[in-house]
Amino acid sequence: SEKTIVKDLAERIGVEPNEIIMKLVNLGIMAAVNQEIDFDTVEIIAEEYGIKAIKETIEEEEEEDEDILEQIVDNPEDLVKRAPIVTVMGHVDHGKTSLLDAIRKTKVTAGEAGGITQHIGASEVKINGEKIVFLDTPGHEAFTTLRARGAEITDIAILVVAADDGVMPQTIEAINHAKAAEVPLIVAVNKIDKPNANPDRVKQELAEHGVLIEEWGGDVVSVSVSALKGEGIDQLLEMIILVSEMQELKANPNRPAIGTIIESELNKGRGPVATVIVQTGTLSVGDSVVAGHTHGRIRAMINDKGERVTKVGPSSAVEIQGLSDVPEAGDRFQIVKDDKTARKIAERRQQKIREKNLKSSQRVSLEDLFEQI
Ligand code: GTP
Ligand code: MG
Repeated sequence: SEKTIVKDLAERIGVEPNEIIMKLVNLGIMAAVNQEIDFDTVEIIAEEYGIKAIKETIEEEEEEDEDILEQIVDNPEDLVKRAPIVTVMGHVDHGKTSLLDAIRKTKVTAGEAGGITQHIGASEVKINGEKIVFLDTPGHEAFTTLRARGAEITDIAILVVAADDGVMPQTIEAINHAKAAEVPLIVAVNKIDKPNANPDRVKQELAEHGVLIEEWGGDVVSVSVSALKGEGIDQLLEMIILVSEMQELKANPNRPAIGTIIESELNKGRGPVATVIVQTGTLSVGDSVVAGHTHGRIRAMINDKGERVTKVGPSSAVEIQGLSDVPEAGDRFQIVKDDKTARKIAERRQQKIREKNLKSSQRVSLEDLFEQI
């Protein structure tokens, strides 16, 4: 909007609103403190103070867009139960993917390049009719941001610690991410089938890092498992369901979807593709979407089983196609009313990125200059 409120104008100029109101009276305009005045009037008033008013349409519109994008508040009566989003974290090779395999009773590890999880992966599992969404994370130290993002969108974190190896750097990092995101933690002490497994040592080391399990007088649930042998898996799942029920997780399926991009890539045949977690609302093929600095219309959706779907509700993981560009993992996505709106918001964000890059490159060159001197 090109309108300015009297009070804001006064604040910007640095005078009392009454003074502005008097000036307006002199111009034949009767205005109250909270009244809007048009730009032409603002220009005249500002000029009286020796200030040149500049139209800030872009900035103001941007605020409006952000407003549109933050209407996540739902009426309590619109909320229904949703499935928990559970992130599996832990040190490299401690058995995160194997544990998910055991849960899914599939073989994901075998299909991975070198057996190392390179991306955050998502899968949906049904246990006694209750859906749980699992996110796998890589333990390799290069993937700190992916793990941090995993923790942010998560309802429960499973901390996998190998009983033969104990608490390691990425274990500690995962503990810190979970704490920062205020996410409840369930410890899975894995590889208990190994002859050199020492679950007690793991528990002691965890205590040393501020994770007090129930046996140690704390409130963190710990389950001993063997992903390889399928031992303790049922008990772990029971605990996940128990903890998630205490959280009373809810979402509104009858609103446009909002969620987070968890992975993305430029696919040779299909163009930009992104895996998204729908956190609230319903996502449908044909929806206009903004995701970070990208936009588009959902052309197709594929679930974790590789099936095409046309509609998904809260707590779902799907791959989407139809974006203009590749969004970044961790970007928020939101459905907006039409393609035009989506494009407008995305373009403005691109503009912002360009401006920021320009500023930082200028700063860098200045620093370079000083270094030379
Ligand atoms: P990154 O994704 O690379 O961080 O590893 P990860 O934590 O997903 O570990 P992954 O599931 O790939 O397992 C690493 C190795 O440990 C593999 O060789 C698994 O077979 C082995 N492993 C996993 N769970 C168990 C277990 O319960 N017992 C034994 N003996 N080996 C296991
Ligand atoms: Mg893995």
